[in-house]
Amino acid sequence: MKHSLTSTILSAIMATAIAVGCSNPMSPQDRLTVNDGKINEIIAQMTLEEKVEMLHSKTNMSSEGVPRLGIQDIKYTDGPFGIREENGDGFRPLGWKLDSATYFPTGSALAATWSKEMAYKNGWAMGKEGRLRGKDIILGPAINIQRLPVGGRTYEYLSEDPVLAARLSVEYTKGSQEAGTAVCLKHYALNNQETNRGSVNVIADERTMREIYLKPFEAAVKEGGAMCVMPAYNKVNGYYCSENAHLNNEILRGEWGFKGMTVSDWGGTHSTMGAALGGLCVQMTGDNYFGQALIDSVRNGALDEAVVDAKVREILRLRFAIEPVPEDVANTVMTSQPETQQVAYEIAQKSIVLLKNETGNLPIAKDVKKIAVIGQNAVLTTAAGGIGAGVKTLYEVSPLEGIRKRAGDEIEVTYAPGYRSYKMSWGTPGPLGPLDAASPDDPADPELLAEAVEMARNADMVIFFGGTNKSIETEGSDRKNIDLPHGQNDIIKAIYEVNPNVVTVLISGGPTDLRFLEPYSPAIVQGWWNGMEGGTALAEVLFGDIAPSGKLPFTFPLKLEDSPAYATGSFPGNRSGEDLFTLMYRLDATGYTREQIQEYIANLPDPVSEYKEGILVGYRWFETKEVPVMYAFGHGLSYVDFEYGALSCRQKKDKISVSFDLKNLGEMEADEVAQLYVRRIDSKVERPLKELEAFDRITLKAGETKTVTLEFPVSELAHWDTDTNGWALEPGKIEILVGSASDDIRQTIQTEI
Ligand code: BGC
Repeated sequence: MKHSLTSTILSAIMATAIAVGCSNPMSPQDRLTVNDGKINEIIAQMTLEEKVEMLHSKTNMSSEGVPRLGIQDIKYTDGPFGIREENGDGFRPLGWKLDSATYFPTGSALAATWSKEMAYKNGWAMGKEGRLRGKDIILGPAINIQRLPVGGRTYEYLSEDPVLAARLSVEYTKGSQEAGTAVCLKHYALNNQETNRGSVNVIADERTMREIYLKPFEAAVKEGGAMCVMPAYNKVNGYYCSENAHLNNEILRGEWGFKGMTVSDWGGTHSTMGAALGGLCVQMTGDNYFGQALIDSVRNGALDEAVVDAKVREILRLRFAIEPVPEDVANTVMTSQPETQQVAYEIAQKSIVLLKNETGNLPIAKDVKKIAVIGQNAVLTTAAGGIGAGVKTLYEVSPLEGIRKRAGDEIEVTYAPGYRSYKMSWGTPGPLGPLDAASPDDPADPELLAEAVEMARNADMVIFFGGTNKSIETEGSDRKNIDLPHGQNDIIKAIYEVNPNVVTVLISGGPTDLRFLEPYSPAIVQGWWNGMEGGTALAEVLFGDIAPSGKLPFTFPLKLEDSPAYATGSFPGNRSGEDLFTLMYRLDATGYTREQIQEYIANLPDPVSEYKEGILVGYRWFETKEVPVMYAFGHGLSYVDFEYGALSCRQKKDKISVSFDLKNLGEMEADEVAQLYVRRIDSKVERPLKELEAFDRITLKAGETKTVTLEFPVSELAHWDTDTNGWALEPGKIEILVGSASDDIRQTIQTEI
């Protein structure tokens, strides 16, 4: 690994100096150490066995405290957008009555709000529900960069842009922890593909890691004060994340000053000594590495007991920072509560993205009396499934329910499924019902198609629900492509031919290939997997009660092959190898022994994923390489237009502030997300065309003007210098670009740093 100890020490000294120099002398991480005196006394009383008992799973979702000394177990729950139902062995639901939770919009939907306030509220509401369930740690937020359009967890992750992901991660973290439940940032780091996630060796240079992939983690640790971090399944530059000393010890603890605990992804621990020295605190799940083997390593002198003590100390810091919920208080009321449902609703209202509204089909005209809703995605619920992040929701308003409720008695709403939908459970197609498909590639069914066309012909307008589902986009595998499944392209064409008054709503977590659908859809809405109130919020947007205000957190490429990892030939690489988690827990369920599982895992292939595009991820690639896209990063229309006034720019100390007037030119209240990008002029270092540095969501009444100020620290413009192995701020001219999307810049101004 390329890094010098001197630079690591230097960065650590700088970080300490900054913390000491600022008005609040104690950083969020340092606050975790306030109980160290007491903790050290506890450690001094513990036997080696007691210490090691804390370093591995007790159950699927807990690790041991110190019962003899009255220290409670640590209780974990998935995350990130719903407190997971109570599970027993093999993740089998226990069938509790009070564990139905709020289903919040998934990661990409939350990110589409571009709202720090919503991210905070989301974290806070999760933290509240976590406590109702007696949990100490939420396994989330999931903040990896969306590198691949096909990524199975794009829906869980936030953005292709590190600044957007960082800002939201910080707020989510603060919200959850202020509500009393620790976050566990996942999956640290560079877990950007599900293909071979349990064994893939990700090769990325230090600059790419620092500027893109590590940024959200760094911000959530340093600014948000995250108390727990989950090393990911994959390897980074040759070492499994759970034993990657560079990531865990040098960067996370050394440079960022992390004082909390780390817990491996489930089944992601691979050794005793490697993980012990490589920065892992808790093996999840099992104790084959951090059980007797760890005790033996200490007893035979291979491992200093101080290493074990350090892990116990980090766990106890979290234990003391998070007050345990008494057993007789936890689980006494329903997990989902009205005040947290309200948060899910507000996020959903702000996440919906109007991609296109060419002939003004939206909002739905007052004279529409008969609406044909076509496509199974109008009725399929999206809370459950997708493996770890599935939610047992208290309720879920489907798009069709939302539309019907809003339409009332005045408007007739008919529904046809349009297509069969791919259904999979644990990696294999489940038993198929009449409306289930065996594959996403199944062509349109002639009977369902004919029914849909007939319904479309007889309606004033059609709302077509396309997109994917949670069997297609899921943890554990990446999509083969981003094609619209289930013959949707043929269906939309046939519908358009009989009724061109069509609005297409895409229900998916990630991007889809819209080249075929576009000409047959005068209006397109990205509706996401939008939480339990998703259908309500969608209907409000469609009927024009509120203006759409979401913005894309990732690019919709024209075609998959244009995207950086494909264009550079670095993905998909070797697709062989089964998924670690699915494998482990399915083998459990099917009766294999632990030994057989471990042997299988030890012999997994070692595929490589080289991030050849470097820092040119997402829009950074498309813009710099001048590759046209379908919908750009940050894109999202409204029912009103906004006018951006001229920019004025001030540089004060370490901060650049840019102010301008923003006017709502329309006749209804609406939110705009103003985006600020920076372009380096004459830089000697390779740079993307421009990079997001700041953004804000502003609410404007009809005709209202507000003065908006967007700010960012000058230090954000530093790049990772591979010669000195440290951050460097290159002086020179910069252009500041402000607008409504990355491809809709309204005003620019130049300045010098
Ligand atoms: C996932 C994690 C999740 C864990 C526990 C793993 O398969 O990668 O995100 O928190 O399972 O459910």
